Amino acid sequence: MRVGILTGGGDAPGLNAAIRAVGTMTHARGGSVVQVRDGWKGLLGDGDLADLDQSAFEGILHVGGTILGSSRTNPMKIDGGVEQCLRTIEHAGLDALVAIGGDDTLSVARRLAAEGAPVVGCPKTMDNDLSVTEYCIGFDTAVGIVAESLDRIRTTAASHHRAVVVEVMGRDTGWVALDGGIAGGADLIVVPEFPPHLDELVEHVQGRWSSGHRYSIVVVAEGVEMPELGGREDAGGERDAFGHVRLSKRGVGERLAEAIEERTGKETRSVSPSYIQRGGTPSAYDRIWATRCGTVSFALAEKGAFGMTSGASPLRSPVELAAGGRPPSPRCCE
Ligand code: F6P
Repeated sequence: MRVGILTGGGDAPGLNAAIRAVGTMTHARGGSVVQVRDGWKGLLGDGDLADLDQSAFEGILHVGGTILGSSRTNPMKIDGGVEQCLRTIEHAGLDALVAIGGDDTLSVARRLAAEGAPVVGCPKTMDNDLSVTEYCIGFDTAVGIVAESLDRIRTTAASHHRAVVVEVMGRDTGWVALDGGIAGGADLIVVPEFPPHLDELVEHVQGRWSSGHRYSIVVVAEGVEMPELGGREDAGGERDAFGHVRLSKRGVGERLAEAIEERTGKETRSVSPSYIQRGGTPSAYDRIWATRCGTVSFALAEKGAFGMTSGASPLRSPVELAAGGRPPSPRCCE
């Protein structure tokens, strides 16, 4: 069996562990592995592919990023892009292609599978915002980094008696903010799903000062919208190939810190751990999870369950989903 692997979208800790799992399983079954470089970009034109032997997967389990490279290229937005991808898959003689990525990458996987290509998915994103699975590769590490950041920020906030607003990633969801904030003992966590009124939020911080607290830590997810803090148009209008604005450019954390300082009269700063959240060494949990998801994605490819992705519902592990001979539930790339 000739299996291609690609990674798309933002890098996330654990990608290499998933790649290693797919590659090692393929070789163990006597197959060959093809690297597709830089996400869907690697399938455009004449393709940017290379064979990988087993040595490529040695020593990468604990390494962050992706050895395959990544991009936010969207073939569906390029004239003839989908056809080019289909042609390259055929010319390269791929019996299966494992696409490791988030909603954007998997939306292309779904389209290609619908066109008859042998594509399966593997869910990755530190945002943890995929409806097809309870958990995504990269999330655990990101939460750990946010929690550690709060531990460190706390010492400065406490020493200088400041409020500190910590802006974290997560796109339009608050998973990283919520779990990272709880683990790091944030005093207030603001998520896009339940945007508060600025007045309420300031009142809470003011209440902490008034009741004798000498510092506050507020975690805000990058996707939070509050009319008083400006809208998405303030992100500069720049969009990626999937139509997403760069939320970090809007700087909701900075704006919130300014608003809190102005209204409470207390020194307030903002901090963003930014790419540190998704860079570097994956946690043990992400390594294990990515290994399991990669293994299940290979199993789906092996049995020809194209248009499907590995993933987990609350009651079943991804391994059980594949071994049970049933499609993973809920279905993704059908
Ligand atoms: O989707 C993962 C993510 O890290 C989001 O949390 C964030 O909004 C976005 O990627 C940032 O993307 P970029 O790589 O374009 O800066």
